[in-house]
Amino acid sequence: MKGIVIYESLTGNTAKAGWVIAEELTRSGIETVCCSTKDVDMQALSDADLVVIGTWTDGLILAGQRPGGVGRISQLPVIEGKTTAVYCTYAIKAGKTLEKLTGVVTRLGGNVIGGATIRRDRIESSASEFVDRVVAATQYA
Ligand SMILES: Cc1cc2nc3c(=O)[nH]c(=O)nc-3n(C[C@H](O)[C@H](O)[C@H](O)COP(=O)(O)O)c2cc1C
Repeated sequence: MKGIVIYESLTGNTAKAGWVIAEELTRSGIETVCCSTKDVDMQALSDADLVVIGTWTDGLILAGQRPGGVGRISQLPVIEGKTTAVYCTYAIKAGKTLEKLTGVVTRLGGNVIGGATIRRDRIESSASEFVDRVVAATQYA
């Protein structure tokens, strides 16, 4: 099984989470590459059985949260029918960011099997716990 993590990141947190997720997935036997929405590895995306998409929480901190930079995610090709998982990083409150991101990825045709909100000061532990859940879910996808 092969995977790809595609992240949208402004200040580096979502990228960092993406690299941890890719590393842990690879360690779990899903050979995974990691890239930005600005420079998607199209071959790896086309080869991937599992697509993980991450973004950051954009809002008014306590209200109006939505996925940051969602425009580039909406334009991703070749997700149709693929097993996907989503995550978002946040500072204080993610609100409905994950649900909204799930909606975007579902509209692209992705079969979303799991998601995580990752607080920016708990990237390593939350990303690792997310990977455990995703790996377990891929066995039933
Ligand atoms: C314009 C802007 C709006 C933000 N709004 C929220 C918010 O509503 N809630 C929240 O918890 N964090 C919010 N944040 C914090 C980011 O979601 C958080 O720092 C995230 O990890 C940034 O990811 P990045 O480093 O990959 O860009 C906001 C950050 C920016 C720059």
